Amino acid sequence: MEPRDLLALDEINLSDPAFWELPNPVRDGAFRRLRRERPLAFFEEPDLDPAIAMFIPKGNGYRAVTRHADIVEVSRNPEIYSSAKGATSIQDMPVELLEYFGSMVNTDDPRHALLRRVVSQAFSPRTIKRIEERIETLAGSIIDRVCERGECDFVLDVAARLPLEVICDLMGVSPSDYQTVFDASNVIVNSTNAAVGAGDPEYTPEGTDVLTSLLVKAEELTALVSELAEYRRATPADDVTSSLVNANVDGEALTPAEIASFFILLVVAGNDTARNTMSLGLHALTEYPEQRARWLADPRGVGPTAVEEMVRWCSPVVWMRRTVTRTTQLAGEGLEEGDKVLLYYNSANRDEDVFGDPYDFDVRRSPNPHLGFGAAGPHFCLGAPLARIEIGVMFRQLFERLPDIVSVGEPDRLRSTFINGVKHLSCAFTPTPVSG
Ligand code: HEM
Repeated sequence: MEPRDLLALDEINLSDPAFWELPNPVRDGAFRRLRRERPLAFFEEPDLDPAIAMFIPKGNGYRAVTRHADIVEVSRNPEIYSSAKGATSIQDMPVELLEYFGSMVNTDDPRHALLRRVVSQAFSPRTIKRIEERIETLAGSIIDRVCERGECDFVLDVAARLPLEVICDLMGVSPSDYQTVFDASNVIVNSTNAAVGAGDPEYTPEGTDVLTSLLVKAEELTALVSELAEYRRATPADDVTSSLVNANVDGEALTPAEIASFFILLVVAGNDTARNTMSLGLHALTEYPEQRARWLADPRGVGPTAVEEMVRWCSPVVWMRRTVTRTTQLAGEGLEEGDKVLLYYNSANRDEDVFGDPYDFDVRRSPNPHLGFGAAGPHFCLGAPLARIEIGVMFRQLFERLPDIVSVGEPDRLRSTFINGVKHLSCAFTPTPVSG
C-alpha cells in the first residue's frame, strides 16, 4: 500500500511507542519524509521503566539513520561506529548487563571476531546446508500437528515452532525444555522493549518489575545451559554447546557466564526474527494473492527470491545502534564522539533510491539488496543462512501440504519499537491427513 504523508516532520517521534502503533502507510509516509527531508533526524530518548531508571540514566538522545546508503556506510566502518556501548538498547547499559544479554553483538573487534569465530562454523552456509534434511523433518512434524485441524494460530503452532526446535536441536537442548526456552526468550525480548516504555502486556503485565522478570528468565536459561554445558564437557557431541564448552578465545576458555550469554543471544536472535518473518510473510501472501500464485506455480524456483522479499517486507529487526568514536561526517552532517546512531533497517528497505516500487510485495524481486539481516560488516546476521533455509523449507512444505493456507484477520502485533513482531495470527486451510 502506498505511504500516506499524514505526519509533518516535527510530528514524527520515533521514541513514542504510539508512533509504532500507527497504520503501516502512515509510518511508511513518516520514514519517506525523514529520508527525503531529515535523513539524520535527532530524537530525545524514550522514558525508561522506573525499575531501570534507578540504575541507568536517560541519555542525550540519538540520530535516526534512515537512508539505505548511510546505513551501509555506518555498518562497514565499525572503527568509527562502535557496538561496544550497546547495539540493542538506546541507553548505555552497564557493562555486566551488556555482556550478559548481548554477548558478541555488543562488542567490537578484535574481541568480537574471536567470539564470533567460536560459532561461525556451526552457522556457515555449508554446515546449515548439511542439516537441511533435519529441518525438513522438523517442519514436516510441525505441519503434522496442525494439518487435520483446518485452522490454528500460525505464530504459536507453526512459525514459532520451527526456529525454536531447530536452534534447540543445534544446541543439544532436550525437547522437554523447548517450552522453557521459548517462554524465556519472549520475556527477555519483551523486557528489553519494556525498559523503553514499550513492553507488551502479554509478556510483561502492568506492575511487573521489568528488571526482575528479565533476570528471572535469564537465570532459568543460565541454569539450563550450565547443566547442558557440564554434560557436554564430559560427553562432547557435534552440537553448538560442545563448541562453546571447548572454545579457545585468546588462549582462554569461555566462562560459564559467557557460555550462558552466548546461548541467550542465539536463542533470542534465532527465535524471534524467523518466526516474525514467516508470520508476516503468510499475511503478505494472503494480501497479495497474485504473488502467492506465482510462488505456488514454482515453489523451488521462486523460493530464494521470495524468502529475501519476505525479509525485506517484514524487516523483523527494526534497528540496531552504534556509537560514534570520533568526529565524522554522515549524510552531510557532523557527528561527535559519543553520539548515538540508530540504523532503521525498515526505512532502508523502502528506500526508493534503491528499490523500484518499494511498497509492492514482489516474490521475484531481483536484485534485492535489502538490509533486513543488517548491512555488510562484522555484525552482519550470523544466522542468515539458517533463517533463509528455515523460511524456504517451511513455505515449500506448506505449499505442498496445505496449499490453500491463508491468514485470517489482522496480525496481533507485538508492542515494540525495536522488533516488528507478531504474537498471534489466525490461519485457515483445508484439513489434510497426517503424512505417512
Ligand atoms: C529472518 C530472520 C533474521 C533476521 C531478519 C535477523 C536480523 C539480524 C540483524 C539485523 C542483525 C544485526 C546486524 C548488524 O548489527 O549489523 C543480526 C545479528 C545477529 N543475528 Fe540475526 N536475524 C535473523 C535470524 C537469525 C537466526 C536464525 C540466528 C541464529 C542463531 C541469528 C543470529 C544472529 C546473531 C548471533 C547476530 C549477531 C552477530 C554479530 O554481532 O556478529 N539471526 N540479525
